[in-house]
Amino acid sequence: MTQSIENVLHEHRRYAPPAEYAARVRWTRDAYDRAYARSLQDPDGFWSDIARELHWFRAPTQALDWQPPHAQWFADGTTNIAYNALDRHLPTRGDARAIVWEGEDGTQRTLTYHELHAQVCQLANALTRLGVHAGDRVTLYLPLIPEAAIAMLACARIGAVHSVVFGGFSASALCERIKDAGSKVLITADGGLRRGSTVNLKASADEALKGTPDIEHVIVVNRTGQAVPMQAGRDLWWDDLLRDASAEHAPAELNSEHPLFILYTSGSTGKPKGVLHTTGGYMVGTYLTTQAVFELGPDDLYWCTADVGWVTGHSYVVYGPLLNGASVFLYEGAPNHPDWSRFWAMIERHRVTVLYTAPTAIRSFMRAGDAFVQRHDLSSLRLLGSVGEPINPEAWVWYHDVVGGGHCPVVDTWWQTETGGIMLTTLPGAHDAKPGSAGLPMFGVDPAIMTRTGQELGPDEGGFLVLKRPWPSMLRTVYGDDDRYQQSYWSEIPGVYFAGDGARRDAEGYVTVIGRIDDVLNVSGHRLGTMELESALVAHPSVAEAAVVGRPDDVKGEGIVAFVTLQSGATATADDVRAHVAREIGAIARPDEIRFADALPKTRSGKIMRRFLRQIAAGQAISGDTSTLEDPAVLERLQQAPAQ
Ligand code: WT7
Repeated sequence: MTQSIENVLHEHRRYAPPAEYAARVRWTRDAYDRAYARSLQDPDGFWSDIARELHWFRAPTQALDWQPPHAQWFADGTTNIAYNALDRHLPTRGDARAIVWEGEDGTQRTLTYHELHAQVCQLANALTRLGVHAGDRVTLYLPLIPEAAIAMLACARIGAVHSVVFGGFSASALCERIKDAGSKVLITADGGLRRGSTVNLKASADEALKGTPDIEHVIVVNRTGQAVPMQAGRDLWWDDLLRDASAEHAPAELNSEHPLFILYTSGSTGKPKGVLHTTGGYMVGTYLTTQAVFELGPDDLYWCTADVGWVTGHSYVVYGPLLNGASVFLYEGAPNHPDWSRFWAMIERHRVTVLYTAPTAIRSFMRAGDAFVQRHDLSSLRLLGSVGEPINPEAWVWYHDVVGGGHCPVVDTWWQTETGGIMLTTLPGAHDAKPGSAGLPMFGVDPAIMTRTGQELGPDEGGFLVLKRPWPSMLRTVYGDDDRYQQSYWSEIPGVYFAGDGARRDAEGYVTVIGRIDDVLNVSGHRLGTMELESALVAHPSVAEAAVVGRPDDVKGEGIVAFVTLQSGATATADDVRAHVAREIGAIARPDEIRFADALPKTRSGKIMRRFLRQIAAGQAISGDTSTLEDPAVLERLQQAPAQ
């Protein structure tokens, strides 16, 4: 990371929007400047106008009601996000493609807006018949198949709150999330396909359900056709439910602040946070940011490669694009199956026009070699996006030159699960891009770089990234723990939203996000809390203590290094410990390196000094004051401990 920060600091290249691109867009430099200025000067007028582009059963009379740190947006309006994402387009785009899907095994399916609407209505009716009411929670644990989008939209249509759990999470992670949300229905699949093998989702779900008595029904999508046990009375096949359900459904008229979804993400403590988003503000925010950044038209086939288990999949696979009536491409599997040309083959096959993916993927493709890309005709592409972690200038330029053939603008979008939608980016037809820098604030976003004590810093000074005002798609609370909401986001620096990232801003206002400043790692664009990893480690019967730190990784951004002490007399191999963490959380949490030690570096008061562990993990010399350590000799022993 230090290396890439250096690179960003010395990066002076800039890429202007291609002239023919800039000439075609709605969001020109001028349009952005005017809209951005208005969004800060007259937020009520600005947001009310954007809201009017969508359908409300009862139109809101006011945009924001701000009782810090609690915001309500369009509070007296009523609407339905699924209606806006589907029904609104039927007269004009009913036969247009809503979803084009390719399974890892090459299976293809297309759903028009009419077809997607019909299936969402059928599932909405089926859920209602199963006793799911507005406000009830439904957990989704699915592969990346059209049913994932259908299930989210069906929940939204009846006002049930969805909680999507990434299919790569373990049974115990699923169990914890079902319990926290208090879900009464689980929607899963028999299995999914990943890198040529099946992921046994139903088996994992069954395991999780042993600890979750509140689940009344499990709806199972038949994806792989593998044999799975079905518990009579509890488990139902998706196809059976839909066969008997009507394709007519009147969408629920929901208050703007009706909860839309919970999405768990890692924070500084061991327990993931259930980030809660609500209906109207999230709808307006994802609608506008998708429109401004991607400007999707009838000829576009847009592909955001995120899984629906992450916020990117919520906002920029499902809601944002469908609210804009776009055609969305979905791919179920791994980027390297059967080899590293899979993405490029699909872009050629389906004539994908916009690609939105993560730096980790870009760096993996770069490492695999240009030949995989060059073998394919990517002339359909017009715009490239990056999201989820800092992108190093080398990867940015490779993406631009090799994937984009030098003619596609690249947008680097900074945002978070909590922000609901894109906060910082350049607009492809409006702004020069600077590799490594996310760019300028989206409408209504008022960023600043501050010191710990809330002093605003000047150009090029590094500090904490904060947002000075509320925005429509912001999280409303941490589900079931409003104290944590207030503490984590609005108390670190009182009065402003604390993002947890370090950043700096140049004289032109471009913000460069360096990375997390809290105990959160970003591994391949996935957020993992060090405490969460440590709790998983110490749950291993042989482990006494554990401390986890990140270390720079050329492909994943950050790698996980775990320092572990064992119970006296106990033994465990590094592989045992790794497998245990994968079972506790999921494969994405598997430590890259384990270092067994006889002790961890602690202060006399017992606090682990992670700063030194980070230096050791990165292979650097120890620097800084070691005198507060109870036993400074521990550091030397840790440096010598073999990395396994
Ligand atoms: C964290 C949020 C954005 C949705 C997917 C991840 C990092 C995200 C960027 C970017 C530098 C970025 C930040 C942020 N991050 N985008 N363009 N440049 N860093 O959502 O899992 O909630 O993670 O991802 O550290 O805080 P998330």
